[in-house]
Amino acid sequence: MAKNILIAYFSHGGENLVDDQIVDLGDEGNTKVAARLLREALASRGLKSNLFEIEPLIPYDRSYEGTLARSRQEYQDGAAPLINDGPNGYDAYQVIFLGYPNWWGTVPAPILSFLRDHDLHGKTIIPFVTHGGQRFLYSLETIQKEAPNATIQEGFAIAAPYMSAAKAVIEDWLKENADKLD
Ligand SMILES: Cc1cc2nc3c(=O)[nH]c(=O)nc-3n(C[C@H](O)[C@H](O)[C@H](O)COP(=O)(O)O)c2cc1C
Repeated sequence: MAKNILIAYFSHGGENLVDDQIVDLGDEGNTKVAARLLREALASRGLKSNLFEIEPLIPYDRSYEGTLARSRQEYQDGAAPLINDGPNGYDAYQVIFLGYPNWWGTVPAPILSFLRDHDLHGKTIIPFVTHGGQRFLYSLETIQKEAPNATIQEGFAIAAPYMSAAKAVIEDWLKENADKLD
């Protein structure tokens, strides 16, 4: 039986640093693009999934500098800001793909909020990351610490300057890891 799959992600959009240049990514940040491509890649293998965007109640600034300042403070404080309510039918999901940009070497604060707000017991969590060169860095350890009763399986990492390769990276990962979704 195919598992029930949720793709939960946080993505900033707006201004970001790509190859040392500030670029406006528009409303679809890199991780949001990756989440959508993942859903399409799963569908092409006959696997149904639902997307859920994790949104802090107070959104991050559109500017790179503003987001950097707030996220640095949150990182230093270990803050978990208030976020939106979880997805409908959460309990029925067995596999949660958890997508985020690498911020300060680990997960953005809203990901901590998501992990703390939800019962993760017995779930399989498959983190995927978009990043500026540091891939997952410390984020997998952080997730494991927050979710001791979940099984964490490393997903795929996509470097921000190479988003054009995202579809291929995701499809390759699925080819190698299809067993994790059975
Ligand atoms: C506040 C902030 C902190 C970041 N910190 C890191 C980092 O520590 N390591 C890294 O490789 N990339 C870092 N990046 C780059 C992002 O991970 C990368 O641009 C990502 O693709 C952004 O995804 P998004 O558009 O979904 O938000 C940072 C970006 C921002 C805005």
